[in-house]
Amino acid sequence: MTTIARRGSYGVDAPYVLFGLACGAVGFVFAGIGTAMGPGPLFAAVFYLLAAVMAVSFVLYLNATRRGKFQTWAEILDELGLRGDERLLDLGCGRGAVLLMAAERLTTGRAVGVDLWRTVDQSGNAIDVTERNSVAEGVGDRVELRTGDMTALPFGDTEFDVIVSNLAIHNIKSAEGRARAIDEAVRVLKPGGRLVIADIVATAGYQRRLTELGVADVRVRSLGPRMWWGGPWMGTRLVSATKPAEPGS
Ligand SMILES: C[S@@+](CC[C@H](N)C(=O)[O-])C[C@H]1O[C@@H](n2cnc3c(N)ncnc32)[C@H](O)[C@@H]1O
Repeated sequence: MTTIARRGSYGVDAPYVLFGLACGAVGFVFAGIGTAMGPGPLFAAVFYLLAAVMAVSFVLYLNATRRGKFQTWAEILDELGLRGDERLLDLGCGRGAVLLMAAERLTTGRAVGVDLWRTVDQSGNAIDVTERNSVAEGVGDRVELRTGDMTALPFGDTEFDVIVSNLAIHNIKSAEGRARAIDEAVRVLKPGGRLVIADIVATAGYQRRLTELGVADVRVRSLGPRMWWGGPWMGTRLVSATKPAEPGS
C-alpha cells in the first residue's frame, strides 16, 4: 500500500457524517444495554449489531478521508504522467489534498485551486489554510488559489491543460447545476486537455454530460475500498475524459 507523507493539515470531509456515525455507534450500544435489561437479549443483539456496523463505517470513513484519498490520488496523478509544465485546475480544492500533490508533480507549471471554502463540506476549510498547506508542502510558488463557484468559473476559455476534482461536484444540489459545472470544466479546458473527476454520486450524470458535449474517451471506474465513505454503498468512482483536439492541430 502506498504511504503518503504529508506535512500540511487537511481536516475531515463532511465532518457531520463522521460525527453522526460515532453518535450512532454509541447510541446503539446504550440502546443494547437498556434493552438487555428490559425486553430481552434478542433485541439487545440487534442493537449491538447495528452499533458494530456503525463503528466499522466510522473506521472506513476515517480511513478514506485521512489516508485513502491521498493514496488513491497519488496513483491517479502518477497515471496522468504530467510533464511538469501544465496549468492544472482543481475544482473544489478545499484544503488542498489533491491540489498540492498535483503541484508536487509540476516544475514550471501551475496548480490552480478554486473553491467556495464551505466548512460543512470539509472541516476548517479556508483559503488561508490551503495557502499555509501549500507552504508546508513546499509548493507555495506553484499554487494559485481563487474563490469562485464551479458553476461559473472565474477563468477564460481553454486556460487549462488538466482538470482534476475530488468529491466536490456532488455538493451542487441540482442536476442542472452539476451539468453546468461540467460545461464550465470543458469550457476552460484546452483542446486535447484531460479531465479527471472522482465523486461518490452523480458520476453517471457527469459521464452523460461529457458525452453530450462531444468529449472523447469518457471512462468510469470504481476507486475501491480505500475510498469507501462508510461502506461499499458509498464508494467513489472516477470519471476520466479527454477534450478533442481542434481539427488540424
Ligand atoms: C468534500 S470537500 C473536498 C475538498 C478537496 N477536493 C479534497 O479532496 O480534500 C468538497 C469541496 O467542494 C467545495 N465546493 C462545494 N460546492 C462548490 C461550488 N459550487 N464551487 C466551488 N467549490 C465548491 C467545498 O467548499 C469543499 O471544499
